[in-house]
Amino acid sequence: MSDDTRILAIETSCDETAAAVVENGRRVLAGIVASQAAHHAKYGGVFPEAASRMHIESIYPVVAETLAQAHVGLEAVDAIAVTRGPGLAGSLVVGMAMAKGMALASGLPLIGVNHLEAHLYSIWLVEDEPEPAFPLLALIVSGGHSELVLMRDHLVYERLGGTLDDAAGEAFDKVARLLGLGYPGGPAIQAAAETGDPQAFKFPRAWLEDSWDFSFSGLKTAVLREVRSQQPDLEAGVEAPRPGLPIADLAASFQAAVIDVLVGKALSAAETLEAKEVLVAGGVSANRALRDAFRQRSTLPVRVPPLALCTDNAAMIGAVGHWRYLAGQRDALDMDVLPTWPVAA
Ligand code: KG4
Ligand code: ZN
Repeated sequence: MSDDTRILAIETSCDETAAAVVENGRRVLAGIVASQAAHHAKYGGVFPEAASRMHIESIYPVVAETLAQAHVGLEAVDAIAVTRGPGLAGSLVVGMAMAKGMALASGLPLIGVNHLEAHLYSIWLVEDEPEPAFPLLALIVSGGHSELVLMRDHLVYERLGGTLDDAAGEAFDKVARLLGLGYPGGPAIQAAAETGDPQAFKFPRAWLEDSWDFSFSGLKTAVLREVRSQQPDLEAGVEAPRPGLPIADLAASFQAAVIDVLVGKALSAAETLEAKEVLVAGGVSANRALRDAFRQRSTLPVRVPPLALCTDNAAMIGAVGHWRYLAGQRDALDMDVLPTWPVAA
């Protein structure tokens, strides 16, 4: 009998149906992510009812194909880990029902995982790099969250602060819609910003002195005000190209404002709390300018997952599942989903 652990992981918190088999919390034997993004693009954002229905259609084939690709049967798996929250309730329940059904049928333990915690563990899936050293200062920036967390050890977190209004990814998505760039907004803003001047517009940076919280609503309003001053007859909420607007400069200036605050506050928290390393994770950590800014401005090592592991996937759920399995976590088959579960409960 080997000491290796193998975790089957399932993730359906938002608009990707994903499954993975992860060995020892570090090696991905197989991982599939079926994204619904192309469908939701028509609505300019995730349409929860449709997301839930599409998860129902995809979940079985995604899990079956993942097990087939990993060349493992359930008899070679130690536990089933599943995203319990935070996320869309109607989406979470689909993955949860699948995990519960498989746990019941196989007798395997069931482990509920926090999606934000899982974003942090995506860094442990970079097998050829040494494990990060604790304490770690972690910035989680996704579509729904912007969180600063001190990670003292495996599974031990202290939440320092988070967004008071829009999450960083949400701000990217809303500004992209305003500029007529479509959904998801992050990659669209990044692409538009490439030819723009980040100093063309002086957008505000909300530093919120004496707190580790963030706020992006003032920045979003400033972009809206600038757009309105250039195009007074702009129809709010209408998704359309905006001819005549300096899109590249607006995108670059907006992106620079978000990055200044995220990098500035994260590095200042790392210094104050004497962290050994900085970890950046979540969908927005895919942003190239953000990754470059962290690496240029930090005196500490900065870890950012490879692009495929920045956005939602199940491998990261399996990485947390490994540590929680070793820690003895075994959840009941009547466990509920937690759509607003914080990272350090
Ligand atoms: O972590 P994630 O995949 O899903 C959630 O848990 O929310 O994050 C999705 C968010 C979206 O708001 C998307 O616009 C943003 O991540 N995002 C980016 C980039 N790629 C994805 N934001 C900025 N730059 C990017 N390259
Ligand atoms: Zn996420």
